[in-house]
Amino acid sequence: MRPTKRSACAAAIAVAGIALALAAADAPASGDGATAPKGPSFLDLRRQPPVTGDPQAGKASSAVCSACHGERGIGIAANFPNLAAQPATYLYVQLASFKGGQRSDPIMGPMAASLGEADMRNLAAYYASLPSPPAAEPGATGDLPGGALFNGGDPARGIPPCAGCHGQDGRGPASGGEAGAATPHPPWPTVPRLRGQSGVYVAKALHDFKSGARGNTSNAAIMHGVAGTLEDADIQSLADFVAAK
Ligand code: HEC
Ligand code: HEC
Repeated sequence: MRPTKRSACAAAIAVAGIALALAAADAPASGDGATAPKGPSFLDLRRQPPVTGDPQAGKASSAVCSACHGERGIGIAANFPNLAAQPATYLYVQLASFKGGQRSDPIMGPMAASLGEADMRNLAAYYASLPSPPAAEPGATGDLPGGALFNGGDPARGIPPCAGCHGQDGRGPASGGEAGAATPHPPWPTVPRLRGQSGVYVAKALHDFKSGARGNTSNAAIMHGVAGTLEDADIQSLADFVAAK
């Protein structure tokens, strides 16, 4: 039988399907079948040097990313994280860990697999250069229940102050200079800012850290310990607090 146009088209779709399946197979094993790939190696970020890149080149290659993360790095729906104003090194490390399989996501795994080292640096530099997402002014959200927990922690339950690493009100580890704010850590470029992040995404991230679904890096290990102290209600109120506009 001669191949018809339709069967050629079906073959093309099948090839695309195989390519996607292969890309998915690069992601860390979720099952335990005999064919499951070996788990990704642990990524030790304690000596990660700050990352720089070319924001203009990043912008030029960001069209595919804007479909979900928005033209200005603000996610077009609540499940797509805002990337704007995150430290470039944090963004780079996330892309590298999606690519390396330490962090697994059915969308971002294949997305990052096609990025080279320079692409990741440039995209990270571009999103880092964009203005931060809209969020409430300092103090304006102070009476939300999550605010006290975020900035002060709960020593009786072993919950550390999130602000110790993520900055006062989640404005980022480099934002300690704001009036009244003091972060015990020096600016640390692999720690994300959280202020104005999507609450849906923040809650998902905390559940992923708690369950260990997001692991395999020294930084994720820190959050695994932190999230283990949180009840579902804490996660919701913390997410509401950082997302407050
Ligand atoms: C089809 C939608 C989609 C596209 C296109 C997409 N992303 Fe994502 N991205 C996501 C989702 C969903 C997540 C959250 C994954 C999770 O929950 O762990 C994410 C997470 C990320 C993160 C981690 C953010 C954080 O706060 O930890 C980075 C960085 C990122 N994407 C960069 C990119 C870049 C760069 C591109 C373009 C090359 C891109 N994404 C394209 C959907 C998308
Ligand atoms: C000791 C430092 C430290 C403390 C305390 C801490 N975090 Fe984190 N947090 C980190 C680091 C480092 C990361 C990056 C993890 C990674 O790369 O996977 C992170 C990541 C996150 C993320 C993922 C953000 C994203 O864009 O994907 C969320 C959400 C988060 N932390 C919330 C919290 C909350 C809420 C608290 C307080 C209950 C808290 N953190 C306390 C260091 C800390």
